[in-house]
Amino acid sequence: MDPLHGVPLLEDLPDLDGKRVLVRVDFNVPLHIGIDGLATVADDFRITAALPTLRWLQDQGAEVVACSHLGRPGNKPDPRWEMDPVRHRLETLCPGIELSGNLRFNPGEKANDPAFVASLIEGFDAYVNEAFGVAHRRHASIVGPPQFLPSAAGLRLAKEVEVLGGILSRPARPFVAVVGGAKVADKLEVLKVLATKVDTLLVGGGMAFTFLAARGQEVGNSLLDEAHLDDCRALLDSGLEILLPSDIRALEPGGTLGPQAGGTFGPRGGVKIIEGDLTDGWTGLDIGPDTAAAFAEVVRHAGTVLWNGPLGAFEDKRFAAGTRVVAQAVADCEGFSVVGGGDSASALDELGLSDQVSFLSTGGGASLTFIERNGSLPALDALRHAPNAPH
Ligand code: 3PG
Ligand code: MG
Repeated sequence: MDPLHGVPLLEDLPDLDGKRVLVRVDFNVPLHIGIDGLATVADDFRITAALPTLRWLQDQGAEVVACSHLGRPGNKPDPRWEMDPVRHRLETLCPGIELSGNLRFNPGEKANDPAFVASLIEGFDAYVNEAFGVAHRRHASIVGPPQFLPSAAGLRLAKEVEVLGGILSRPARPFVAVVGGAKVADKLEVLKVLATKVDTLLVGGGMAFTFLAARGQEVGNSLLDEAHLDDCRALLDSGLEILLPSDIRALEPGGTLGPQAGGTFGPRGGVKIIEGDLTDGWTGLDIGPDTAAAFAEVVRHAGTVLWNGPLGAFEDKRFAAGTRVVAQAVADCEGFSVVGGGDSASALDELGLSDQVSFLSTGGGASLTFIERNGSLPALDALRHAPNAPH
């Protein structure tokens, strides 16, 4: 089914001239804290992605108020998560848009409290959801307003759904998924669904070690999720072509991990490339060069490639090579390339490759949930029930 079916779009909104429109955005952006202690926006991709919708609404003559969460404050005001740095950036990019306070300062947001929904929509004539990154959350600002106000999916939200829905239902083949990240438990459900859709699955990152262990390999001190060995074994036995790391870049026993190598307080320890079993005490932290080359070869020849999650502990430069090689291959792929997840996106960004992929998703968790649930998300369901939704 078309995941946008029944979802009202901007053109389904009533006349907005002189009306007040509440727009839920996901401006949960990385911040940079300067030596003066002041926070600035480190990456404004999620802000720029929402601009066409905000400008469209302004062009209709609407008064636009945006609202977002930032970080994970504990349901109460927290000076670290004030919206000011985001507000300043928005003001320079698109003057005239008001941005209200951090939604997650109020416990009603995550609890989806009806009283909080009522306070959110007070004085508004319409609602737009332009927050794909939180479309998988059943929070007040996502599922509440469409019960009461004429509502619509923003341009970017609709595009995300169209692109992800498209690669799931009619991918150009071969369809290759590259999945990394630390925790296999977080990705199992999505892997099970992908296993029914893709031609080849490439597994890297911390999660690969549970797969390697499931295949009977020694993984030393690497991340291992014993509770999910059977799930990994079942996937390996499913008949799907799954490529696991054949060589691993590992850190010696007692070594430490960190952002800058060298120096007295920098990360320490010897690094070597190990093929096959990892000896006692060594920790696998990146795919090795042979694996990276093999993955890159498969990725470059994909008709469709979907990449989510780093292949190694790339914040430590010693373990960034695997992620870099794969990022480059995703950029070089002549097929349709889709990247989701903050870490993959920042790896691409660091390499200056962000504009060389076909589609960079603004949502990591949301895109995985979208795949897991075959195109259904709480935000979309809520919009389908809006008073102006098409029938
Ligand atoms: C994200 O950055 O993944 C989204 O903004 C969602 O944030 P959350 O995982 O804290 O709900
Ligand atoms: Mg997240």
